Amino acid sequence: MFSRPRRNRKSEVIRNMVQENFLRASDFIFPLFIIDGKNQKTEVSSMPGIYRYSIDLLLKEVESCLKLGLKSFDLFPNLEESLKDETATESLNKNGLYLKAIKEVKSNFPEACIVTDVAMDPYSSDGHDGLVKNGEIVNDETLEILAKMAVAQAEVGADIVAPSDMMDGRVGYIREALDAVGFTNVSIMSYTAKYASAFYGPFRDALDSAPRFGDKKTYQMNPANQREALIEGMLDSQEGADFLMVKPALAYLDVIKLMKDNFDLPIAAYNVSGEYAMIKAAAQNGWLDEKRAIVETLMGIKRAGADVILTYHAKEVLANNWI
Ligand code: PBG
Repeated sequence: MFSRPRRNRKSEVIRNMVQENFLRASDFIFPLFIIDGKNQKTEVSSMPGIYRYSIDLLLKEVESCLKLGLKSFDLFPNLEESLKDETATESLNKNGLYLKAIKEVKSNFPEACIVTDVAMDPYSSDGHDGLVKNGEIVNDETLEILAKMAVAQAEVGADIVAPSDMMDGRVGYIREALDAVGFTNVSIMSYTAKYASAFYGPFRDALDSAPRFGDKKTYQMNPANQREALIEGMLDSQEGADFLMVKPALAYLDVIKLMKDNFDLPIAAYNVSGEYAMIKAAAQNGWLDEKRAIVETLMGIKRAGADVILTYHAKEVLANNWI
């Protein structure tokens, strides 16, 4: 035998020397859930260790993350049912929970990078990402609402707006709307290949945002499709996206790799709520070594080609020095 790959595994020093991929604090975006009130911190029952924070406690949470070198946050609001309507009016309320939270975080921590969510579902009485008319999710009328939402978020300090709705043409529409009012420096992280997935369940618990009828299959992608992601990637690139996201991550590692190989924009991957819940549930039962399972999972996403990982594990990984 001339070639013995085990020689490069014989000691820790050599294993470290030949290690191909690394996880760093700057790879991560930490999703955070917000609720109304003061001094509120409620755990999401299907996501142990993940909470909905009122704005005062959100600021403390952001501060403790920043100390760990975790500097990017994706904010999502949990709204009272009474504030939801068909056109997501509350999303534009300057004194409403979401815009206030963005403004507070950004003014207290200008060094933090704030990613904001552009989609109707947290504010929609239908629980859909787009406008519903006669039981259908209408594309072009939704674009106007999304563009207003993105501009409102930019006005209160969003660094990156992230359309998660999967309407056609939204990246270009939002880009033009932002530019028209001078926000040429606000970035767009597009949920480019977002699949109609079972793994969003715990997130919908967190926000009480499950669709009130039907499913999201007329706008989110079919899990059976890979090449269709290239069409979405091409459109989002042409329309001015700054990041292309694949979501979920684990069942779609091939799609992450495909996007990485075909586009030169940074690729983001969303390690979603259900993926988090699976590991936590197994760990709580003593069925998995939690630390190793988490680091291996995140490394797999990175190895597949993700430049940026949105993950609920971000803080625990850094707080425990697991990477
Ligand atoms: C909806 C949205 C979803 C997630 C982020 N934005 C769920 C959905 O499409 O119903 C899911 C994130 C997660 O599961 O962690 N705009």
